[in-house]
Amino acid sequence: MISIRETIITDIDDIIRIHLSSFNKSHFTANFSPQMLHSYFECLLKSCPQSFIALSDDKIVGYVFGGLNPLEGVDHFIKKNFWKIILVFFKSPQFIKEKIVEKFFDTGFSIKDYKNIPTIYIIAVDPFFRLGIGTKLIENFEKRIRSENLFEYQLSVRKDNDKAIKFYENNGFYRTLTKRTSFCYNKSLK
Ligand SMILES: CC(C)(COP(=O)(O)OP(=O)(O)OC[C@H]1O[C@@H](n2cnc3c(N)ncnc32)[C@H](O)[C@@H]1OP(=O)(O)O)[C@@H](O)C(=O)NCCC(=O)NCCS
Repeated sequence: MISIRETIITDIDDIIRIHLSSFNKSHFTANFSPQMLHSYFECLLKSCPQSFIALSDDKIVGYVFGGLNPLEGVDHFIKKNFWKIILVFFKSPQFIKEKIVEKFFDTGFSIKDYKNIPTIYIIAVDPFFRLGIGTKLIENFEKRIRSENLFEYQLSVRKDNDKAIKFYENNGFYRTLTKRTSFCYNKSLK
């Protein structure tokens, strides 16, 4: 049986397990060490009060991190792990170009735009449990933001992530922006 509850800090090791089995090495954070990922999710959790995990019986099988300003957590993580992140760039230089493009050329959706509209920053489900759990996680996220009188939210997804794009479009998201590396989506709950 699947149940959903709020994420707590002791869930992070399981979240890392799911993260590493859900994202391949073309995803920047999948190149982080487990210790860096721990710090990453710890920082995200602090800036994402609308975060949930899915449990199948007692096993954690999915997670979603969301909040009004998730990038605050990302900024904090970068400050805490600056040199370790630089080392990841040295080991995987293909990300240097990607991050320069995102930072300087993908204008139109910046840190400022994240504020005041809740954002799903990241969502993933254990590949062996992809049977409607992603949908359940976003339903819980939506229930929470509705209870806080918030009726719209946003996210962005990489252009090459066909499975996630299909998932969002099947779940009522509409595309608001096309950037060089990603698409932005919104969903209205009214
Ligand atoms: C994107 C993602 C989170 C979606 O989660 P999900 O659990 O796979 O999504 P769904 O809730 O749509 O469930 C998947 C399938 O189970 C089906 N399903 C729903 N309820 C079901 C049930 N009770 N029994 C069996 N199947 C069921 C759905 O119809 C769907 O089928 P489809 O893929 O043929 O449309 C997941 O694919 C994932 O983790 N991807 C990797 C990480 C990622 O890219 N994240 C997004 C970018 S941040």
